[in-house]
Amino acid sequence: MDAKKANLNKDFRDRISPSSQFVKKRIPNVKKIIAISSAKGGVGKSTIAANIAVELGKNFNVGLLDADIYGPSIPQLFGVKEKPTTDDGKKLNPIIKYNVYLMSIGFLVDDKSPMVWRGPMVISAIKTFVNNVNWTNLDYLIIDMPPGTGDALITFSQELEIDGAIIITTPQKLSVNDATRGIEMFKKTKVPVIGVIENMSYLIDNNNNKKFIFSKGGGDTIAKSQNIELLGQIPIHQSISASSDNEVPLMHSMNEDIITNEIKNIALKIK
Ligand SMILES: Nc1ncnc2c1ncn2[C@@H]1O[C@H](COP(=O)(O)OP(=O)(O)OP(=O)(O)O)[C@@H](O)[C@H]1O
Ligand SMILES: [Mg+2]
Repeated sequence: MDAKKANLNKDFRDRISPSSQFVKKRIPNVKKIIAISSAKGGVGKSTIAANIAVELGKNFNVGLLDADIYGPSIPQLFGVKEKPTTDDGKKLNPIIKYNVYLMSIGFLVDDKSPMVWRGPMVISAIKTFVNNVNWTNLDYLIIDMPPGTGDALITFSQELEIDGAIIITTPQKLSVNDATRGIEMFKKTKVPVIGVIENMSYLIDNNNNKKFIFSKGGGDTIAKSQNIELLGQIPIHQSISASSDNEVPLMHSMNEDIITNEIKNIALKIK
């Protein structure tokens, strides 16, 4: 084992309880839980999680849980302004938009204030989202993980029976290194990693040629070294960033193009 990997293992050993100390639980009425994750920030986790959820939501009952307590993105990506209701004063009802059941800390707090919560408060918010939300009869619950391998990721991975994690990376080495770190975390907490998606893989120029503006092959490198499937490669495109700004996930619009086809294929593979 090289020195870098030994350090990684030590780091996780210090922060993750031994498997005998935690019992993973399922959420009643939720068939499959899928985590979308990457230790690196800004690689497109939330955008991809939102679009996969909307695509799967066309045929299934799908929930999307925003686990990013410090920087929730789901309210913006779905254009949700309202607050969740409760029928019994105990459990929150998810907000339904574009056929997806949504829950995010961003629905509950003022979006202009910075979140200054400490670890235990984050963990308690996560437990509320798992135990005190009416997740009724979901075929899939997609969890949009925060960047890094901090409290939220560790709590979910140790306490929840996640059926599969999907890793998002960009083509560059820096992102590959971070993604690998995230995969190691899932391995330590016995969460199966089902595949990797490479985002911002290339740019399509005016002549419809692919331009690899970043380096090439990050997703492939991870897939081969970790023995997991490369689920898809999504180009960098203005329509994707515009969809976040316009608060409507791309997969809600019926446009047929290389990007929506790629996301459809990814959703098919997840199924
Ligand atoms: N393929 C793409 N083409 C163009 N823009 C993209 C693409 N993927 C993501 N973006 C844009 O990049 C920004 C970051 O994406 P996003 O918030 O989904 O990343 P993230 O990994 O969830 O970030 P964080 O680590 O902060 O949670 C957003 O503005 C989004 O619209
Ligand atoms: Mg995000």
